Amino acid sequence: MARVLSEETLSSIKDATTRYPNNLAAMLPALHAVQSQLGHINADAELDVAEALDVPLTRVREVVTFYTMFYDKPIGKHKVKICRNLACRLRGADRIMAKAKEHLGIDFGETTADGLVTLETDECLASCGTGPMLWYNDTFVENLTEEKLEKFLGELS
Ligand code: FES
Repeated sequence: MARVLSEETLSSIKDATTRYPNNLAAMLPALHAVQSQLGHINADAELDVAEALDVPLTRVREVVTFYTMFYDKPIGKHKVKICRNLACRLRGADRIMAKAKEHLGIDFGETTADGLVTLETDECLASCGTGPMLWYNDTFVENLTEEKLEKFLGELS
């Protein structure tokens, strides 16, 4: 009996198991389905996934905690990741990261008090020629300046 997962999510997990050679291999699509439903993957959801895939809970937990794309606690409505890798830093990412923290009043890895924005850094986001850049809800914002960043963050709130 599922604790927190919807019938739709459980159905999606079951479907994933038919597309992979074994249930462990279906772990990533299963966890994406859970995060799509809940926004994060909490302890009850991990138990549901373990049951749905018929795998030990520790196997679920190790995947959730290994990948930075999975969250085991609630995060903000908007995820903003700023690239901290070399090409972006050579083009001014340090100033952009400092401005983002100042504008939002939070550090990296934190969420604004209103629950609107979670701020993170990430390694190369594969847009090195247009850095500094950030990733936001599956979209790139490129060639950032401090002014462009402030306008972008202002539009989120
Ligand atoms: S170094 Fe920033 S996108 Fe590649």
